Amino acid sequence: MAQQSGTEDKVIIFDTTLRDGEQSAGAGLTVEEKLRIAHQLNKLGVDVIEAGFAGSSPGDFEAVRRIANEVKGPVITSLARAVKADIDAAGKALEGVENARIHTFLSASDIHLMHQMRKDREAIMDMAVNAVAHAKTYVDDVEFSPMDASRTEPEYLYAMVEAVIKAGATTVNIPDTVGYSTPEEFGALIRGIKENVPNIDEAVISVHCHNDLGMSSANSLAAIENGARQVEGCINGLGERAGNAALEEVIMAIETRPDHYKVDTNINSTEIGNSSRMVSSIFGIPVQANKAIVGQNAFRHSSGIHQDGFLKERTTFEIMEPETVGWRGQAIVLGKLSGRAGLRSRLHELGYDLSDEELANVFTAFKDLADNKREVTDVDLEALMSEQHRFVDTDRTYKVGSVHVVCGNDTEPEAKLTLDCPDGETRTVESKGTGPVDAVCKAIDSVVDLDIELTEFAVSAVTEGIDSLGEVTIRVAKDGSVYSGRGSDSDIVVASAKAYVNAINRLITIGVQDRSASTGAV
Ligand code: KIV
Ligand code: ZN
Repeated sequence: MAQQSGTEDKVIIFDTTLRDGEQSAGAGLTVEEKLRIAHQLNKLGVDVIEAGFAGSSPGDFEAVRRIANEVKGPVITSLARAVKADIDAAGKALEGVENARIHTFLSASDIHLMHQMRKDREAIMDMAVNAVAHAKTYVDDVEFSPMDASRTEPEYLYAMVEAVIKAGATTVNIPDTVGYSTPEEFGALIRGIKENVPNIDEAVISVHCHNDLGMSSANSLAAIENGARQVEGCINGLGERAGNAALEEVIMAIETRPDHYKVDTNINSTEIGNSSRMVSSIFGIPVQANKAIVGQNAFRHSSGIHQDGFLKERTTFEIMEPETVGWRGQAIVLGKLSGRAGLRSRLHELGYDLSDEELANVFTAFKDLADNKREVTDVDLEALMSEQHRFVDTDRTYKVGSVHVVCGNDTEPEAKLTLDCPDGETRTVESKGTGPVDAVCKAIDSVVDLDIELTEFAVSAVTEGIDSLGEVTIRVAKDGSVYSGRGSDSDIVVASAKAYVNAINRLITIGVQDRSASTGAV
């Protein structure tokens, strides 16, 4: 509900879905997937996109470089440890880009200094100052984060913040790295920085809160109340461990309660829904149904008393209009007779701009679905897209053709399927297994031969009803890395085969991108 405004100030929204969000267990995106999300974040209106950690892998370097060159509008930043090699990698990835920022970070708390860094405070202070000074040789816009700031002795933190601003930092980011702080404490920490750092007016105070105790959004908002003017977070609250502050929560708290926070953002909130669905689908991480703002139940009223009040007057039980966050129910949008133009235009509204070739692929899948299912909803389209838009290198990857299984409670499950292989051949493979999905995966393994382990398997119905699409999410592990895959079909065994092959294709694509970026090959 829009209260009367008393807005005084802008809060910079810094999205780190592609960096801290990618640190979510089991996430790992291709360069094309990151680009697609970055374009959507631009539509959402975020001010800063942390595109990756250029020094961490050749694939991340390439993602930062391409996003910085192709996504115009937001500031693009790369994370870098406070060491020369990382800062050089970030500087090179951002070379020639107008709105570029280097974000360098270093542990500040005694617990980190003693056990992880094994250095004293003086040495760490020097490293911080030198890192900022070195980053300044590449870009004007430098952000510094004293890691674990909320557990750092305040006097040392003030001194470090003062020193890095003197060295040229234009943003100082205060992380609650382990999600330990409470809103009162964290607000007081920001107030303390404002009151005790003499040159604080020369930099923007930013905050970066983790959600280990479920307080990341509240901590970020408490920081705003005490003078922070940049908030870092991820779409859907993704991120390391329990995640980062969910940007949609912070944004909508600011938007719904201007009477309280008295600040504003540049966000186009109607793109929140599209951003959430795209991030969930590309990361292969579902959003919990009761998640604030973007959960599928966030605007559903189920008790009789609530429904009665809502029907009489919406504001009795609704504080935001679902449309303001681009929330979508299960509106029927397309059917059997819909054509390519209708499909293209609906997908555009959902945030997907497709090439003719991509549209041709989705259209075939859409027609198959419309034949089996009378009503194709937005949610069905998202499921189709989650399979189609998981960009993979089609010259090196596999495609599921036909799938037949024999199973039941009195027979040993057997699967027979055809796979289109990278060498252009279509192979027929067969296997037995402990169940139909096991048989299908073993049959695929017999051709792909990658020695992978299936670590997670989840099935969900995309919409309600017996004709609903089944959506399967699979995670596979190889050499310590985890890759997700999704597939949807009205038959869940077929969906499983597609999801398994999708995970394999992503593993191959990400591996090739890392190798080719490191050798400079294309
Ligand atoms: O959580 C953290 O402290 C971080 C820093 C790199 C900003 O992610
Ligand atoms: Zn973090």
